[in-house]
Amino acid sequence: MNTSATGDQPVTLSSEGPAARSTERPTERRIGRRCLYMPSARLGLYLALRGLVPPGTRVLMSPVNCETVMFAAVAAGLRPVMAPVSPADGTIDVGRIDWDGIGAVVATHLYGLPGEIRRLAAECERRGAVLVEDCAHAFQTEVTGPGGERRHVGTFGAAGVFSLAKHPRAGGGGLLAVDDDVAERLAKARDELLTAPAVGRELPAVIAPLVRDAVFALRLSGPAWRAAKALRIEVAHENDEARVRDLAAAADDTDDLDLTRFDRWMSVGAGGYRVAHSRLLRGAVARRVRLVDGRRARRRRLAGVRVLSALPTAATGVTAFADQPLFRVPLLVADRDAARAALERRGVITTCLYTPPLDDDFGPGLAEPGPTPQIARWWARHALPVDPLQAARALPILRRLVPAVHP
Ligand SMILES: Cc1ncc(COP(=O)(O)O)c(C=O)c1O
Repeated sequence: MNTSATGDQPVTLSSEGPAARSTERPTERRIGRRCLYMPSARLGLYLALRGLVPPGTRVLMSPVNCETVMFAAVAAGLRPVMAPVSPADGTIDVGRIDWDGIGAVVATHLYGLPGEIRRLAAECERRGAVLVEDCAHAFQTEVTGPGGERRHVGTFGAAGVFSLAKHPRAGGGGLLAVDDDVAERLAKARDELLTAPAVGRELPAVIAPLVRDAVFALRLSGPAWRAAKALRIEVAHENDEARVRDLAAAADDTDDLDLTRFDRWMSVGAGGYRVAHSRLLRGAVARRVRLVDGRRARRRRLAGVRVLSALPTAATGVTAFADQPLFRVPLLVADRDAARAALERRGVITTCLYTPPLDDDFGPGLAEPGPTPQIARWWARHALPVDPLQAARALPILRRLVPAVHP
């Protein structure tokens, strides 16, 4: 037992007992690295950046990204710098990085694609920059080395963070993969930030994945979308000047590294981002993880990736990973919004769009602009990420799509 960061309610530590370890162990065995269970991936990102990178460090990240990645860096007292973007896959274009003053890198494996992670890891090592892998979308991606050896993402950097809300579509949860020598320290830091599980409030997180599966299976796109939103599975993008201004003011106060000051931003789309999970929710999350790791689910996902990656609109960076069970297959299409609407009419909902790029959205005060804004905007405007599990249903629409003209 512990007390919460904000009050004196008792907190059940998420590392306590066999239930917690049973959620961590299967992934540990699969990737070969210690994993710490988190209520969310963003808390894992925050802990890695806070615990492994000195405050004030300039941290490189792709501007085609989930805003929570930037929020985690800002909350950790770091200064986000936008990276050059590869038109092949939306990840960091390693060859174009200006390394001057960069002390850390967050590599987001967008839609499961790790881009040039081996090269990026080698550069980080050579330059003494801390590498944190954002594997929120890459729960099952492996990278093949020159000798044919396979290595799981999340093991290239000082830390790797998986989101169990994405690939396994659990109602929350994350895993922070780290080396044994820092695991205890980061687990302690996590436990100090957790608030008590709210079992009543957890019910949507337990039920939402089941409802979503059922509604999707029944092809009820409108109700599926509304249910997902009501259950806070999908978040509509929103930004306004006040939100940006307030975040900039909070970020400027570098003397105070109290995470609770950033709850408002860190909570976007996942209110319980640092609420400990009860035994009930952890059990539900563990079941989803087992399911997504099962042979049948993998086979279905791989089949979908194969079909989608053969489309003429598939991003060129997909080819090298067409044998991987990706979270989404990004197509680059001329009229993405029309394609999205047509898919929705067929019951295929497009999620995980990151538009506009972070530097356009938050401005230079919070996100130091990247060197390839035209590629970042092109990617954000034209990328159509398709769920491989819905490939068959989407294909009649996807076959007719016109590729986006390269920037
Ligand atoms: C690329 C990326 N990184 C990190 C996160 C954070 O994951 P979580 O919602 O589990 O905190 C998300 C999703 O929100 C994401 O899309």
